[in-house]
Amino acid sequence: MKNKLNELRAEFLEELSRATNNDHLRDLELKFLSRKGQLSELMGGLKDLSAELKKESGELANTVKKELQDKFEEMKKSLNSYVSKTENIDVTLPGNKISQGHLNPITLVQNELEDIFSSLGFMILDGPELESDYFNFTALNVPPSHPARDMQDTFYVDQKNKDGQYDLLMRTQTSPVQIRAMLKYGAPLKALVPGRCFRNEATDARHDHTFYQVEGLLIGKDISFANLKSFLELVGQKLFGPNTKLRMRPKFFPFVEPGNNGEYTCFLCQGKGCRVCKYTGWLEIVGAGLIHPDVLRAGGIDPEVYSGLAFGFGLTRLAMLKYNINDVRLFNSGDIKFLEQF
Ligand code: PHE
Repeated sequence: MKNKLNELRAEFLEELSRATNNDHLRDLELKFLSRKGQLSELMGGLKDLSAELKKESGELANTVKKELQDKFEEMKKSLNSYVSKTENIDVTLPGNKISQGHLNPITLVQNELEDIFSSLGFMILDGPELESDYFNFTALNVPPSHPARDMQDTFYVDQKNKDGQYDLLMRTQTSPVQIRAMLKYGAPLKALVPGRCFRNEATDARHDHTFYQVEGLLIGKDISFANLKSFLELVGQKLFGPNTKLRMRPKFFPFVEPGNNGEYTCFLCQGKGCRVCKYTGWLEIVGAGLIHPDVLRAGGIDPEVYSGLAFGFGLTRLAMLKYNINDVRLFNSGDIKFLEQF
């Protein structure tokens, strides 16, 4: 009898430990603890025992019965609280946070420029990154074997045309879209062209083979150098604040005449001189000039009737200045720790 009681106890506890829902519990109750269950049945046999054995086994039977009932109740409670926890959904609890992507610093600066220039009536245009030698150089007044091609170390595509020439390249500048825009829209024209450019640079903290520029183009009647100056002043003030000053220094670009570099008072030190402007007080920001008559002609526009101005920003450089980024290679590194800061 005692052995049987112990066996039953062990079996019950084993099955109880595997119970995961109320149905299991009900089955267990029926099988072991109910009036017709195994425990009752065993205890029914007590009456046939000798007085001494009856006393001993009876005592054990009662402790076992109590233990099993207590354990059963305990399990019932914990199962029910589990069930009620999962079944009652608190709709006011905050949801799981979904981590969201966000804009790259280059895109942020690009968006800012697009806003400024659309408010001045400019179209925002796009152009191909895989470009023809003609649009990237020849139409921009840089004929084959012109030394100005050396200013930009170019990635050519390893594929000859029917004349045996390599004429496809990764564009080195956004300027080819000047020609594309003129051919497509004619004059007058106001266009801004942000885009990715490529040069065969030895990379370091300030140079990368892949970077962004923004090209600007304004064509109309009687556009003069005075217009270029006042326009660049306005752009500087919109970008860096109303006290920003412009200085223009001559610079050769084959597709403009005259050409210049536009420098703005350093927005960090207000022109006093700091590490970022190399203690000059000025930041070299924009290449610009009046569009060369040959370039207008290549775009199908008569330089006797129309004139225009063009300028080009290093968008990547602008983002570096604005966000104080000291290594250009970070932009293309895909480093989440870097990107998450913007
Ligand atoms: N495309 C020139 C460069 O990459 C910049 C530029 C654009 C200069 C338009 C003048 C006019 O350096």
